[in-house]
Amino acid sequence: MSTHIGARPGDIAPLVLLPGDPLRAKWIAETFLEDATLYNEVRGMYGYTGTWNGHRVSVQGSGMGQPSLAIYVHELFTEYDVQSVIRVGSCGGMSEKVAIRDLVIASGACTDSSMNRIRFEGLDYAPVADFGLLRAAYDAAEGRDGVHVGLIYSSDSFYAARPELAARMVEYGVLAVEMEASALYTLAAQHGRRALAICTVSDHLVTGEETTSQEREQTFGEMVEMALTAGTT
Ligand code: ADE
Repeated sequence: MSTHIGARPGDIAPLVLLPGDPLRAKWIAETFLEDATLYNEVRGMYGYTGTWNGHRVSVQGSGMGQPSLAIYVHELFTEYDVQSVIRVGSCGGMSEKVAIRDLVIASGACTDSSMNRIRFEGLDYAPVADFGLLRAAYDAAEGRDGVHVGLIYSSDSFYAARPELAARMVEYGVLAVEMEASALYTLAAQHGRRALAICTVSDHLVTGEETTSQEREQTFGEMVEMALTAGTT
């Protein structure tokens, strides 16, 4: 096993879906995967491997925030030879271009995190999605209304100390806020792997609207199907 994942080499598939919430990982495994087996429950951060349409797929919780995600993604890449990671998460709408229940496919992720400032000694790196995965996800979403491709903002704070900065981000094209994608894209670049983040808009910072738990589950399910299709084509 690696430091935080109690799996043996070979237990984890080359494609991993990565929700923040470990209970979402369990739900995805139970709802979408055949013959799913649990390979990790260290810290309750569930990980399962099963098959979807004949393809071996794993689903692993990442926890909230970039430091937590970075632990799991680093170990998936370095200890389990994972090739593709698709984050399936939620985000808060920032731009009036997006509405609750929409899907945002993140082409790139801005951040206020110090992780990349430390990594690049103060230079600003632009973390971007794998284009092949992005294109496949967009194709898989064909026919669904409310699908956006664009920039998101990976913030270290759910409760922002300076909410006015969000408005400036929107002026520069940012659609939504979440807390993980920037670290995911950076680690994928470092290790030469593929990564994508797809997020459902669960709440909106401008309108104050929020989805119900039933809406969240339905939209989440649509997003998981998109991610599975994108990752296996
Ligand atoms: N994920 C879902 N909604 C969010 C928000 N408002 N801020 C940060 N991450 C989120």
